[in-house]
Amino acid sequence: MTPPSPTTQAAAPTIASDQQSRSSFINADKWLDTDGKHINAHGGGVLFHDGVYYWHGESRPAQRGGPSGVGVYSSRDLYNWKNEGLALAKVDDESSDITHGCIIERPKVIYNARSGQFVMWFHLELKGRGYAAARTGLAVSRSPTGPFTFVRSLRPNAGIWPEGFPEQSRSPLARADVKAVNDEMGFRPSLEAGVYTRRDFEGGQMARDMTLYVDDDGKAYHIASAEENYTLNIHELNDDYTDFTGRWIRVAPGGHNEAPAVVKHNGKYYMLASGCTGWDPNPARVLESTSIWGPWKNTGNPCRGVNPANKLGPNKTFGGQSTFILPVQGKPSAYIAMFDVWRPRTLHESGHIWLPVTFQNDRLIVQWRSEWDLSVFQQ
Ligand code: GAL
Repeated sequence: MTPPSPTTQAAAPTIASDQQSRSSFINADKWLDTDGKHINAHGGGVLFHDGVYYWHGESRPAQRGGPSGVGVYSSRDLYNWKNEGLALAKVDDESSDITHGCIIERPKVIYNARSGQFVMWFHLELKGRGYAAARTGLAVSRSPTGPFTFVRSLRPNAGIWPEGFPEQSRSPLARADVKAVNDEMGFRPSLEAGVYTRRDFEGGQMARDMTLYVDDDGKAYHIASAEENYTLNIHELNDDYTDFTGRWIRVAPGGHNEAPAVVKHNGKYYMLASGCTGWDPNPARVLESTSIWGPWKNTGNPCRGVNPANKLGPNKTFGGQSTFILPVQGKPSAYIAMFDVWRPRTLHESGHIWLPVTFQNDRLIVQWRSEWDLSVFQQ
């Protein structure tokens, strides 16, 4: 091969230009980290600890079989992110639940002051079983960047009925009997009456798209799509956030809500979610409640405006799907809604949309902006 001529070298794009430090959020195809590479942290969440933000998300392999798991990036200003590597890596050991070939999605990390541990929960699908396992995985670490130690995976609250579940429905149902009950009652009434809750009573409830939420009183909640994605379940976590207390509720049975993200503002809980259309975008919605234990009420689509790059507006959430609402430190009532723009064939290249959250007449609003910075929160 001929060595490149000095002219070619001079003309080659320099990584340095990619690495220029950012002072705004730009909702474009790529968001480059401080090494000039697109941020590979999808379905993620952001944790603030000791002056630093940590962004954990799905690290998808660029090539089949490449390293993957949960990636972590760090930042002091939210604009510029440094790749800190894999916080949790899939393993070679075939007997592990997180062996290569499993699916790890929507990881979230919270800090437990009592144990001094960082606690990660994530949606886990076991190798070779598609999306049938619908489990939640737990990993812990003494450092926000890991390495996290995988603890176990499970389906939440096996053998425990949710709060408010009617006495007369409290009997487990064999998988083979679900169809008969659906046929007899009609699908929708049967679903609302908990046909899948009863089916999954003994083995534990399904847990797919998920988030974690830590309340002002330090109590933490695991929120996940269950019942074949028809219903969201909120499960209270124990004091060290590593197990379930047994207190849980079903939210909006039949609502088909996925991709949950929670924020509390002026004493009210807001849950941003999507519908269920796989990797394809659909309309976002907000559920509101004055208590984490409900009742939660769907108050409609919070999105306003259009993303000029793809011409998609509220009907398609600007091309994205919610993943987290991040409280900005030191700015009261400043929150950022985070969305993924999925690229199913090259998931590692999936994009990120970050938008400021505002409140109008107590309603949570997400207005499109192609570029913005944290000064919007002073307005
Ligand atoms: C979406 C979900 C993603 C992923 C995808 C798989 O509905 O939000 O996290 O699970 O389905 O098709």
